[in-house]
Amino acid sequence: MSNKGKAPSESAVEQNVYKVFPNDLNSKYTVFGGLVMGLCDRTALIVAERHSGAPCVTAAVDSLNFVAPARAGDTLIIKAAANRSWRSSMEIGVHVAAENSYTGESRHVVSAYLTFVALSDDGEPKSVTPVAPQTAVEKRRFKDAGLRRQQRLENRKVQNR
Ligand SMILES: CC(C)(COP(=O)(O)OP(=O)(O)OC[C@H]1O[C@@H](n2cnc3c(N)ncnc32)[C@H](O)[C@@H]1OP(=O)(O)O)[C@@H](O)C(=O)NCCC(=O)NCCS
Repeated sequence: MSNKGKAPSESAVEQNVYKVFPNDLNSKYTVFGGLVMGLCDRTALIVAERHSGAPCVTAAVDSLNFVAPARAGDTLIIKAAANRSWRSSMEIGVHVAAENSYTGESRHVVSAYLTFVALSDDGEPKSVTPVAPQTAVEKRRFKDAGLRRQQRLENRKVQNR
């Protein structure tokens, strides 16, 4: 970590894998969406905790898009990285692919952005280190995260009315 912050690569989860079995399916025999949402949340939580060095809670989930179904026998490959942090909150981007592990063919199934808040020992939001993007892709994610935060905070205002 430099004094300008922590690079996304320092906290990223490169590959969390989950093998789909029949008890993971919905009544249409594709993977139950709630399972994938849980995997996204758990994987993103690890990134938030690595980045902040503190226990974190999910504050918001936005843009969780199911792009394509996953099926029995697929291997879900979940990748997550910190896009940006503010005072106590962090946006974590998650990408899920479904791999046919016999052939190596892989399909994009979900993209999601989750916001976590780091907590102090007394359960209050705690300040976190900035995300220091290094690559062109990380810099684009950092910039886009700023736009999404504005939208999230607007939504929060409306929902808390
Ligand atoms: C998330 C939580 C800690 C925020 O606490 P709070 O008292 O509202 O604190 P604040 O208003 O000071 O917000 C703290 C940070 O959370 C962010 N935040 C809170 N709600 C948010 C939302 N809906 N979307 C995005 N960011 C949000 C704020 O922007 C702020 O970020 P910053 O410090 O980086 O500027 C609190 O709402 C909470 O504990 N929620 C329940 C979390 C939980 O149980 N998650 C699991 C769900 S099953």
